[in-house]
Amino acid sequence: MKTSPGLVLNGQGGSNLYLILLIENFITHIFLGEKEQMKIAKLLAGAIALVGLQDVFAQEQFTYNEHVAQIINENCVVCHQEGGIGPMHLTNFDQVRPWAPLIQLKVANREMPPYAYDHGIGIQDLIGDWRLTQEEINTIVAWVNAGSPRGDVDVIAPVAQVKTPGQWNFEAELGAPDLIVPSSSYDIPANGNDLWLREIVDPGLTASVASNCIKAVQVKPRGDAAAVVHHANSIVFTEDENGDFSRSGMLTEYAMGKWGEQVPDDVCRTLPAGAQIQWNIHMFPGGVGATAQGKMIKGNVVEIGLWFHGEEFGEQDGIYKQDLAQYSLGSQDDLVIPPNGYYMTQGFHSFDHPVRVDSFQPHGHLRMNAASLEVFYPATGRTEPISQISKWSATWHHSHLYEPDVAPLIPAGAVLVLKQWYDNTANNPHNPDPDMWVVGGSRTGDEMTHAWIAITHLDDEGYEKRVAERQVKQNSSVAGSD
Ligand code: HEC
Repeated sequence: MKTSPGLVLNGQGGSNLYLILLIENFITHIFLGEKEQMKIAKLLAGAIALVGLQDVFAQEQFTYNEHVAQIINENCVVCHQEGGIGPMHLTNFDQVRPWAPLIQLKVANREMPPYAYDHGIGIQDLIGDWRLTQEEINTIVAWVNAGSPRGDVDVIAPVAQVKTPGQWNFEAELGAPDLIVPSSSYDIPANGNDLWLREIVDPGLTASVASNCIKAVQVKPRGDAAAVVHHANSIVFTEDENGDFSRSGMLTEYAMGKWGEQVPDDVCRTLPAGAQIQWNIHMFPGGVGATAQGKMIKGNVVEIGLWFHGEEFGEQDGIYKQDLAQYSLGSQDDLVIPPNGYYMTQGFHSFDHPVRVDSFQPHGHLRMNAASLEVFYPATGRTEPISQISKWSATWHHSHLYEPDVAPLIPAGAVLVLKQWYDNTANNPHNPDPDMWVVGGSRTGDEMTHAWIAITHLDDEGYEKRVAERQVKQNSSVAGSD
């Protein structure tokens, strides 16, 4: 059983407890001055921490009502409730209690909440970060080790404040979307090969809507469609002077489990007036992952919800253009992963003007298991880690949004270095068949190698201003820390 460092799971540690009781007995039964007793108590506390026994004492304290309910209500219930995408409900003690050992395991291994992003490597301040703190993990682990007690009945566990399933993720904060663009309705059979829906829809983008900068965007499969929609890309098509429509960029990208995107408030991402949206929806009949229902889904519809800034927002000084684009890690046609083998891809991208990297979302399928983003600075020869996801899984696609204060500011000519790793052996828990040759392609069983990155395109002035602002903040926080 794998555990996080410093944690002791159920069943281990009993003999150490016995040893400590013996030593405690020894201290109280020999004659020592108060100072010596304190010293030994301190030493003991150190020894206890060393053998990982801090939770033996924690067992006395942690209860569902007082400590655990709040963590679960804030971090788990959103999916683990009636109509949510989680396989069981975790809304009250009676529902949570039977799952306690599995909850302990999934939480200690950082598999739940489902947000794989490495600690200690690169930027850690992310918007919409679902990771629990180490303290929250320790609380749940200690509570389960103590037999998952309900606790004092007079202490009422807090009620979960969560959105109802089917609601837009940003609704609580931003209200209903200003514009919803649905795909056509499509019935998905219970089983069979992958299906793709490609269609162009007219979202009715009048000039007044189109001039508005996008504040947030979410793609949401309606109802049961969430189980079968593997990904849904929305591409913007604009009309040229001859009346022909051609591809002008990406609106957003959705892949299973994705939450949505919020655009930083110093940039403008727009949709051109009169633009049409091409849907490119990839469906997997029967579903993939633990939520697969293996049944016919009728009336499959995917919707884009868009929230806009007010009308004058884009005209303010210092607002820069941002776009979300696909950055490849080599040609997909070259991607060939041998049976029971491994593979790695790399991609390099640079810009002739300074940029800020606002978000990073690696993309692959069932064999991809890790990804990273680094920046190489030719001027100094230094390479800086930005993000790493070592336990990547195709069932959870997150766009990692960097907090504006720490989003990488990159001078012209610096190089984004993208790396992705693939494991086609039986050790990869998502691998449906390690004996198969895997090639680049669109089917779920094929592989892909690219990343979606939101870039703010700066000029020298905008770059230097942001670098200087950070310097000031950094200096004041250093000054304030002593
Ligand atoms: C974004 C939605 C989401 C959130 C948030 C979430 N879960 Fe889950 N959980 C799922 C889904 C979907 C599955 C089944 C698929 C999987 O394992 O990835 C699952 C599986 C599990 C399982 C394994 C069940 C089994 O039978 O194998 C446990 C235990 C669990 N979650 C506990 C938690 C706990 C505890 C939290 C909060 C600390 C949490 N989850 C947060 C969606 C979520």
